[in-house]
Amino acid sequence: MKGIILSGGHGTRLYPLTKVTSKQLLPVYNKPMIMYPLETLLKAGIRDILIIVAPDHAGDYLKLLGSGKEYGARFSYEVQDKPEGLAQAFLIGKEFIKGDNVCMILGDNIFEDDVSKTIRKFKSGAQVFAKKVSDPERFGVVKFDDKMKAIQIEEKPKKFLSKYAVTGLYVYDKQIVQVARSLKPSGRGELEITDVNQRYLEQGQLKVQVLDGDWIDAGTFESLYRATSLVRKKQQKK
Ligand code: G1P
Repeated sequence: MKGIILSGGHGTRLYPLTKVTSKQLLPVYNKPMIMYPLETLLKAGIRDILIIVAPDHAGDYLKLLGSGKEYGARFSYEVQDKPEGLAQAFLIGKEFIKGDNVCMILGDNIFEDDVSKTIRKFKSGAQVFAKKVSDPERFGVVKFDDKMKAIQIEEKPKKFLSKYAVTGLYVYDKQIVQVARSLKPSGRGELEITDVNQRYLEQGQLKVQVLDGDWIDAGTFESLYRATSLVRKKQQKK
């Protein structure tokens, strides 16, 4: 299983914090934000990791994370020139993926749950993780039937669909590059990860696990603050 951390974008919602650095390098309690998704991948036994960054602060990532040796891993780097969507990561990373299964995590997503068992068990199709939230309109949203089988998935639905947000952690099999190639940019000009999940859903190959613990997309002032507070609480319990 290969790993990708997508750390692109301009982080405009966190301006002026992101005027001089990248969102995913901002501190979350005692570490830069990206270290948390990195730990999620490492914990799942993923050792070959591609870090995709925006051009502005690319050198800072290299300085922070280096070759990966320190973590018993191997890190590679690629640049996403423009924020043209999460699914573009699979086109940027196609040489790196080379027909393997791949687990992608967003550089601003912090997970409290240990998801390593699910990731290690993954064989084929797609596996995503959902969390019940109070503001689903901010995210990709998944609707379940009464047996908790996913039946519909939509990006930032205007009309209420369900309270389950699809989090920024995705596992795909070797079909992924082909699927990403076939996507058309959405209304916001992005290759949407939700369209990828939609394809797998249509083929009956999308599995969704609901998370118990906290999940934070630390892309706003409020959620960044919550992330710091969650990590602080966990550190103090240790
Ligand atoms: C992106 C995805 C969305 C997902 C979210 C998780 O949102 O498009 O489906 O729920 O990440 O953090 P964006 O950051 O592009 O608004």
